[in-house]
Amino acid sequence: MSKTILITGASSGIGASLARVHARAGVTLLLWGRDPARLEETAAACRALGAQAETDAFDIRDIGTLTARLSAADAATPLDLVIFNAGLGGSVPGDALAEAPENSWAMAEVNFVAPVVGAALIAGAMARRGHGQIVLVGSIAEAFPLPQAPTYAATKAGLAMYAEALDLRMKKHGVAVTLVSPGFIDTPMSQQVTEPKPFMITADAAARIIARGIARRKRRIVVPWQFAAIRGVANLLPRALLRLILSRA
Ligand SMILES: NC(=O)c1ccc[n+]([C@@H]2O[C@H](COP(=O)([O-])OP(=O)(O)OC[C@H]3O[C@@H](n4cnc5c(N)ncnc54)[C@H](OP(=O)(O)O)[C@@H]3O)[C@@H](O)[C@H]2O)c1
Repeated sequence: MSKTILITGASSGIGASLARVHARAGVTLLLWGRDPARLEETAAACRALGAQAETDAFDIRDIGTLTARLSAADAATPLDLVIFNAGLGGSVPGDALAEAPENSWAMAEVNFVAPVVGAALIAGAMARRGHGQIVLVGSIAEAFPLPQAPTYAATKAGLAMYAEALDLRMKKHGVAVTLVSPGFIDTPMSQQVTEPKPFMITADAAARIIARGIARRKRRIVVPWQFAAIRGVANLLPRALLRLILSRA
């Protein structure tokens, strides 16, 4: 059966691996990102695996362009699966008092505004058809008020809340909503993190786990699994203790 899949942030890391994992005959992949050369590398790898692959390079912070391209793509071939994966990391440098406002702005737009607006648009179209699946790639940071990354944690917490609310709204229309919450995955984003990165796995390993969860239309995928346990333990702690641990970490 043919399937059309759109992936944002497909030029790097988890998005590129997700593209390759989904690539096979009968699958058309729409690969979005900013860097045309790296997008084309992903597309070539997907074509070698038997898929059709098209690329589109633009800045997802341009919401007008995002909604126009999404509407046009869905009108050309109804999308079966849309993975909003593009994301921007960022933590406060050790010697800084606070985050740079322009970094907070960019993270808010890439990590929250763009996927939420995009998901709202495609959810309506999928609901009218009575089927489809939307995947939002968040972060395990959604569960922790990280003093070294306040905006990043907040954008991912907002996205997690949105995913759950959208799922409740969409399930009666046959549209699945999946939230992916990665811990540490070895990608250019995590390579900028200088602190220890426990339980880190490769982007290809993460993509295989995520793809299995997507195929089962799971509501929540935590990868690697150890972070589900860490979040569970953190949820049991009194908030004051969690705040103390995070402020000293
Ligand atoms: N790696 C981890 O440990 C980790 C942990 C938790 C959550 N995550 C989440 O996983 C997702 C993928 O991250 P990753 O680790 O694979 O990072 P990555 O290797 O840095 O890839 C990020 C992707 O997002 C795209 N992107 C960023 N800003 C964009 C913009 N303004 N317009 C369009 N595309 C944009 C990038 O495109 P270009 O490269 O073409 O600019 C790239 O394809 C993100 O949502 C991230 O928050 C990652």
